[in-house]
Amino acid sequence: KAEEQEEMQIEKGGFKHFMLKEIMEQPVALENCMRGRVKQLVGPPDNQFTLLQRLQVLLSLEREILTSFQSAKRIIICACGTSWHAGLVGEYMLESLCKIPVEIEYASEFRYRSVVLRPDEDIVMVISQSGETADTLAALRHAKQAGCLVIGICNTVGSTIARETDGGIYLHAGPEIGVASTKAFTAQVLVLAMLALRIAQGRTIPDDEYKMLVKELSKLPSRITKILSENEAKICEIAKVYRYAHHCLFLGRGYNYPVALEGALKMKEISYIHAEGYPAAEMKHGPIALIDNLMPVVFIAMQDSIYDKVKSNIMEVRARKGCVIAITDEGNTELESLCEYVIHIPKVSECVSPILTVVPLQLLSYHIAVMRGCDVDMPRNLAKSVTTE
Ligand code: G6P
Repeated sequence: KAEEQEEMQIEKGGFKHFMLKEIMEQPVALENCMRGRVKQLVGPPDNQFTLLQRLQVLLSLEREILTSFQSAKRIIICACGTSWHAGLVGEYMLESLCKIPVEIEYASEFRYRSVVLRPDEDIVMVISQSGETADTLAALRHAKQAGCLVIGICNTVGSTIARETDGGIYLHAGPEIGVASTKAFTAQVLVLAMLALRIAQGRTIPDDEYKMLVKELSKLPSRITKILSENEAKICEIAKVYRYAHHCLFLGRGYNYPVALEGALKMKEISYIHAEGYPAAEMKHGPIALIDNLMPVVFIAMQDSIYDKVKSNIMEVRARKGCVIAITDEGNTELESLCEYVIHIPKVSECVSPILTVVPLQLLSYHIAVMRGCDVDMPRNLAKSVTTE
């Protein structure tokens, strides 16, 4: 037992919990995820191309699979938990960059519902960190039986889902031990972004936009490092203030609506605070009734195409005396007067922003859970991989 304990301490690499270690190692995990995939093309020196123009996304997907994606009439994504949230970001990316209709399904619903599957037109994509989740595996088998091409996005090499899919992309994020998924989420979204860019390249997005987004991907690790080093103290302060909250609301729109869901999931999983994630505008259709001066409301309010709408949602919460915590871009000072706390993170393109905006939310739930004395790595009633129905 003592030996086991010691081994575990070594595995934690000096961190108090696996979850914190995994949050902190996201820059490295994302570097590893992009290694050999987002790269500067090598070749004879060519003055015609700038450094930026030589950046490319290269995925080792078989040509036939890439062609199938490019001619797919629909992509159906199946997953559970955090992987489902990554899939929701994937839906937005694939629709916007590749112009392919996408549906996102809870694997547990997909397998028991009469989904209309058209093998010649639909590709089914399953996302699973462990590669062992029973419902996701059953969804995969169901889709294969219907004759669909099934592609997997997994972290665990050689897992059942990785073995049973027709092709796929590994995260290469390294083992994730903490029950609450952190680095797997950011790596899943990154893989989906690389995939969307690969499908869209030369087809559905202008070349400049493609190059700009590939460059944005390459900058993500250093930007996460910056978020982690500059915000932890403030996040601890926020955690201290709100650690006794009974309820908490997470709101975001567009690409950051899935991040609101993920922020709420992290909070309830490890701190046992009741938390709900909502698209910010839906707040008016219910959750607004919950808001009072004891209710922390976390907004993801990046200065993107819907920023003004999110700002007016913040004002609505403010008018009802809710305590607003906002995540916004560096240099945006106009939210200070409307919010209790503002966390600033580097500016980033809208479609890859979830990879950054989720990081302060992971830290917030981590610190709140620690302050509440919860077992962060092994929360009650939860399992790292759910291999039964
Ligand atoms: C469990 C874990 C979650 C995870 C979900 C899906 O509920 O506690 O963290 O997101 O399963 O797991 P998967 O391995 O399929 O991504």
